[in-house]
Amino acid sequence: MLPAPRPLTASRPTGPLSGALKVPGDKSISHRALMFGALALGETRIAGLLEGEDVLRTAAAMRALGAEITQGAQGWTVTGRGVGGLREPEDVLDMGNSGTAARLLAGILASSPGFAVMTGDASLRRRPMRRVTEPLAACGARFESRSGGRLPLAIHGAVDALPLEYRLPVASAQVKSAILLCGLNAAGITRVIEPAATRDHSENMLRHFGAEVSMAVEGAGRIITLRGQPELVAADIVVPGDPSSAAFPIVAALLVPGSVLRLEGIGLNPLRTGLFTCLREMGGDIVVENERLEGGEPVGDLVVRHAALRGIDVPPERAPSMIDEFPILAVAAAFAHGTTRMRGLHELRVKESDRLAATAALLECNDARVEIVGDDLLVHGAGRPATGGGLVRTHMDHRLAMSALVLGLASEQPVRVDDGSFIDTSFPGFVALMNGIVGNGGGAAMLAA
Ligand code: S3P
Repeated sequence: MLPAPRPLTASRPTGPLSGALKVPGDKSISHRALMFGALALGETRIAGLLEGEDVLRTAAAMRALGAEITQGAQGWTVTGRGVGGLREPEDVLDMGNSGTAARLLAGILASSPGFAVMTGDASLRRRPMRRVTEPLAACGARFESRSGGRLPLAIHGAVDALPLEYRLPVASAQVKSAILLCGLNAAGITRVIEPAATRDHSENMLRHFGAEVSMAVEGAGRIITLRGQPELVAADIVVPGDPSSAAFPIVAALLVPGSVLRLEGIGLNPLRTGLFTCLREMGGDIVVENERLEGGEPVGDLVVRHAALRGIDVPPERAPSMIDEFPILAVAAAFAHGTTRMRGLHELRVKESDRLAATAALLECNDARVEIVGDDLLVHGAGRPATGGGLVRTHMDHRLAMSALVLGLASEQPVRVDDGSFIDTSFPGFVALMNGIVGNGGGAAMLAA
């Protein structure tokens, strides 16, 4: 049964936002930590794992494939089974709302002998899976799916998987990672060529576990090479704060007058920080302090102060480094002075929702001016607070819900969302955290049922 929808309303706080906060662990890195940990020999200890619903689905799936995964006071521990050591799951694997979990797992299952079936919620069952099943089939795996290549998906893993060489037609870290994960249990060299650099957490973590992975630049893209059948050795992981989650309090602080926020331990992998580049170009006051490396990933503390923003042109080549941040950038753009043009957003149509259409609708129902021109999103900022007052349809999409609520914190009228329950997929505790940063020790809650 579907959980009941959880409507939420966001209203302007009585004062500025202030304080120091931490956001939950990075979602991309958390999925990978559990998956690679399950494929390594020995005990991997993970600090800072995101305990959101998406990642918990990955944990359940890796347990069903034979890994031992426990949660303790010090964090999570995965006892892996080694490359090629997973067992056939006894039941259907339900990946919930998570495209990353489903696509990466398809890569693992393609080169794991045995039979598995994967499904997901109504949003995930609408999303394209052929982008992974087509290239993965070349290793010898067989896939059967619903029409349009959609979940549920049945997978007969290859007995002796062949290594793949694949040129990605779209820049997608999920597809790249699925091919690399498949290549782990294939003898020989697996090669992925991406048209533009996408987040490289899989490559970083594979090296961390002892695999041989190399990268060469090719034009705007990259060639990634993996030597198959390595012995992955368990290694501890520290998961940084998710920059895609930090995006919401950061934009809230930029928009609410007088605000100053400090966000600690945020991941700053350059293939994830396109939003911060945009916000700075718009005049946003974001300072990085205490930059350091934690578990092979750059991390820093961010200090954000309210600032007047102006419209900018966002080039298409920046899209992969901020692919999940366009809804919240569009919210910031609605308050900026002048037009912001975000180019090359075709991939947004196949996220948890059609995020291009849904982001435009989010702004329109709050009286902001917006246009979709081809694959571009244009937001004509008024240079003052948006009117607000809308009821936003969130289409089972966590990032739309949080973006709409941030809009409501800074607009003239409160903003309502039809369902905030999906926020828990990536940002458990979002409402409490946001209500905790109202300055001067409180005031009315900004976010309420
Ligand atoms: C992710 C890759 C991106 C992103 C998603 C997480 C990952 O998807 O939107 O939230 O962890 O690899 P695509 O690969 O489809 O761009």
